[in-house]
Amino acid sequence: MPLLIAPSILSADFSNLKGAIDMINKSEADWFHVDVMDGSFVPNISFGFPIMKALKEHATKLLDVHLMIVNPDRYIEDFKKAGAGLLTVHYEACTHLHRTLHAIKHSGMKSGVAINPHTPINALSDIIRDIDIVLVMSVNPGFGGQKFIQHTFDKILKLKQLIIENSAKTKIEVDGGVDLDNALPLMRAGADILVAGNTIFTSPNPLECIKFLKDPL
Ligand code: DX5
Ligand code: ZN
Repeated sequence: MPLLIAPSILSADFSNLKGAIDMINKSEADWFHVDVMDGSFVPNISFGFPIMKALKEHATKLLDVHLMIVNPDRYIEDFKKAGAGLLTVHYEACTHLHRTLHAIKHSGMKSGVAINPHTPINALSDIIRDIDIVLVMSVNPGFGGQKFIQHTFDKILKLKQLIIENSAKTKIEVDGGVDLDNALPLMRAGADILVAGNTIFTSPNPLECIKFLKDPL
């Protein structure tokens, strides 16, 4: 399967959000990555439903919503109504992860679990078959434009192994510090989906940048 690319709109110019949405619509990107931060789970506040509304109206691709919030269970139905196609919660924010994942699926979305850099892959061993997508954080969540943590490669390899051992269909998404140099090694390590914010939105040619990330060979 070719790589899927999910540009993170956190790095877009919000004074021209429609321009960023149009660019992603016409690009070879596959999803919109939507980073929701509450200032509690992470030390930053991003945006919420007003931006989701603009995305739902104009985006023509799946909304991949990454919740960096405490108690995400409270908002599952709201994000479904707001247009999310994939809803990702943090392992570290969910006391009853199994229940949360089933609530996400029950509302008709794909279920994702994000893991912080310090969270070991084996923490997912008893839940892997219930997860559509594991979002491996390759930076500490909270901000765009951070440096990629190299140890992520080991985690991707371990996660791939866990998926195979459990005959699971789970896909691997990598988020944070993805750039033109690490896209190919990430793909080779086993990543199925790459999130990229800074790399795409600071590029002089975002469409070409997305094209390269999608097929970095
Ligand atoms: C970080 C977010 C990322 C971020 C990625 O907390 O989850 O999705 O926007 O941005 P870059 O690609 O700039 O690291
Ligand atoms: Zn993210």
